[in-house]
Amino acid sequence: MTKNNKEEFELLVSDILDNEHFLETKKDLHHGTSKYEHSLRVAKLSYKLSKIFKADSLVCARAGLLHDFFFGTRKEKPENSYLRHPVTAARNAQKYFNVTDNEAEAIKTHMFHQVVIKKLLPFINPHEKASIREFKPKSKEGWIICASDLLVSIMECERFQFTYVANVTLLLIFNIILFKN
Ligand SMILES: [Fe+2]
Ligand SMILES: [Fe+2]
Repeated sequence: MTKNNKEEFELLVSDILDNEHFLETKKDLHHGTSKYEHSLRVAKLSYKLSKIFKADSLVCARAGLLHDFFFGTRKEKPENSYLRHPVTAARNAQKYFNVTDNEAEAIKTHMFHQVVIKKLLPFINPHEKASIREFKPKSKEGWIICASDLLVSIMECERFQFTYVANVTLLLIFNIILFKN
């Protein structure tokens, strides 16, 4: 990141990074790192991609940082589950940071790749419900958050690399089909 971009990024998210509720995410383990570190990586990548794809940098930086803003692990509460935590994170982001509808929507749809996997392989997490229509990203920023989360997760979860590479491939195929129509 250039010096100017680094300064702009910090300006866009400094209130979140210093917030006592967001600092709580330092306590939660996520992909073998803290949820705080994971979220910061996703926010930085989303911000960089926003410059490349001419998307809204503010939305990408803030929604990227808040995409996993829930408390505790995904196994602790039903609302933190694999496919429900995006809804919880969007709700928390609205409650604590008054995020815009576009930001909340981008947070809510960041696990779309897993929704697609779930539709293709319904025996995975059979108790979870997933709706393509509800969880498909609705904006360029939403797609960027979704892709950034996946890419960062691949880097963080070396032991799950095969699964994540398969997910990325499926996401790309789905994107190609969507944008063709
Ligand atoms: Fe997530
Ligand atoms: Fe994430």
